[in-house]
Amino acid sequence: MKTTINGIMLAYEVHGTGEPVLFIHGFPLSRRLWAGVVAPLSEEYRLILPDLRGHGESEATAETSMQQYADDLVALLDHLGEARPVVVVGMSMGGYVAFEFCRRYPQWVRGLVLVDTRAGADSEEAARGRLEMAERVLSDGSHVAADAMLPKLFSPHSPAALREQWREIILATPPAGIAAAQRAMAVRPDSFDTLRSLDHPVLVVVGEDDVITPIEEARRMREAAPRAELAIVPQAGHMTPAEQPEQFAEVLREFLHSRVSEPSSVPTQRQERG
Ligand code: MLT
Repeated sequence: MKTTINGIMLAYEVHGTGEPVLFIHGFPLSRRLWAGVVAPLSEEYRLILPDLRGHGESEATAETSMQQYADDLVALLDHLGEARPVVVVGMSMGGYVAFEFCRRYPQWVRGLVLVDTRAGADSEEAARGRLEMAERVLSDGSHVAADAMLPKLFSPHSPAALREQWREIILATPPAGIAAAQRAMAVRPDSFDTLRSLDHPVLVVVGEDDVITPIEEARRMREAAPRAELAIVPQAGHMTPAEQPEQFAEVLREFLHSRVSEPSSVPTQRQERG
């Protein structure tokens, strides 16, 4: 489906009925990241899967920001007639957007799932690297991002066909969308205070072979959020939902069943599963 949101054409899918769950993919990816959760979860939940602006089939703009992505998402919920708070699931850059969503629209949030992401801001060096990549992608094309990222995205266990599928998706991402996202990520704020102040259940998921946002980052987020638990998914790298879709869907389902539906007066639990 496609609709006009905040002046641009945004692509999305909606599957199932039930409590709403909003899925935010990472950079420079698309909603296809979540393909593996649709069958297992759509019988119980309303799954809302957008392509962020400048990604997948959504229109690109020369500039964007974490705020703009979050504004697009809330406008999409409005367009869909969704009036209930959502569980927000954000992978990597989608996690950065999810933090912004929590800051701007706390009334819309019922729970948070942070997948292969981090809460800290960029170092100066990392931010500089992003600005350089933005320039190179604009002059040379999206393969610059694909070449830089692909060696780090997957676990050594993941098959070549999966890597190839995602290479194609990154190559199809418009250079303007990649450059705008990199510039936006370079100036995103630290989100640890947001995590510390979150009153909702939080699930942190990380692939055990993730080298972009490694397990230590996931543990720091689990420690910061008052009501968080951590799931480490074996044989997955940075692309856990695509690399281990069944395990990912199962971890998510267990969280939605046991934590999000619990009455908010139930005391905090912490657990780490390996
Ligand atoms: C992503 O997967 O969204 C990116 O690796 C995030 C980032 O570059 O920080």
